[in-house]
Amino acid sequence: MRVLSGVQPSGTLHIGNYFGAIRQFIELQDEHECYYFLADLHALTTVQDSGRMRGLVRELAAGYLALGLDPERSVIYRQSDMAEIPELTWYLSTVTSMGLLQRCHSFKDKVAQGVVPNHGLFAYPVLMAADILIVRSNLVPVGRDQKQHLEVTRDIAASFHATYGVEVFTLPEPLIRDDVAVVPGLDGQKMSKSYGNTIDIFGPEKPIRKRIMSLVTDSTPVEEPKPKQGSALYQLLKIFAPAEDRAWVERAFDEGGVGYGDMKKRLFEYFLGTFGEARARYDELMGDQAEVERILRAGADRARETVSPLMDDVRRAVGIR
Ligand code: TRP
Repeated sequence: MRVLSGVQPSGTLHIGNYFGAIRQFIELQDEHECYYFLADLHALTTVQDSGRMRGLVRELAAGYLALGLDPERSVIYRQSDMAEIPELTWYLSTVTSMGLLQRCHSFKDKVAQGVVPNHGLFAYPVLMAADILIVRSNLVPVGRDQKQHLEVTRDIAASFHATYGVEVFTLPEPLIRDDVAVVPGLDGQKMSKSYGNTIDIFGPEKPIRKRIMSLVTDSTPVEEPKPKQGSALYQLLKIFAPAEDRAWVERAFDEGGVGYGDMKKRLFEYFLGTFGEARARYDELMGDQAEVERILRAGADRARETVSPLMDDVRRAVGIR
């Protein structure tokens, strides 16, 4: 199977990104031919500051690699290095009805939130369809919120086939796992950049420790049992605790005697246990931009080999070149 997925460099990587998506990407590398890219062209629909964009792309690339996306096994590239993607986007745009895009929830939600949409935001699903179709991917691991975009991708591919009378694309399936942990944020809501309740994976220890210590808890006294229901601290301890400490976590909540402060200190230790090695690799990679750049360019070269024959088919189908 050929797997493809992308992440927008639109914010700093947090533990929700890891448990919700990147961990899955890493696992899929063992069994499939994987294409993972940085969706910087998509991020332009929201990040419109050159310095910030450059910084976020660097961080995401270093983060991907540090966490275990492996350029030896997977094709890892930056969307903007592939000029074929915006080219294909245009061919697809001309077979995509306005109505199809007007029905997209993510677009409608943003407009409902008061965002004044630019055309890029409206056309976002067409660019995404190009990302997916261009490598003829079969499986696209995504979050539930992207399911409709996969349906739109299939509709666009079918419309191209109907318009030109040739089948050039592979229709992809979403891979949406129910068992991925929903990671709660500091305030107990789903961890999300837009709620400002995230715990970053990388960067200096001190502010991360501070964030963890600021996790919202109730006022149950130290000696009493603590409620697990609705406790973000409990959820996070369960996600992070190594197997031999899981019983400790249960006891700490059920029996009392352990204060929230001590539990949070433990959580911070588990966090370092989980991400310590990746954090060290990240710092190395952030200090060696030339190496990161080399990896991304090499990834784009490999991706280009895959997309070239497909692009030839598409150009032939539409009668251009
Ligand atoms: N829209 C995706 C998200 O926000 C990111 C993305 C862009 C993507 N292109 C993609 C995901 C292609 C999967 C396949 O999460």
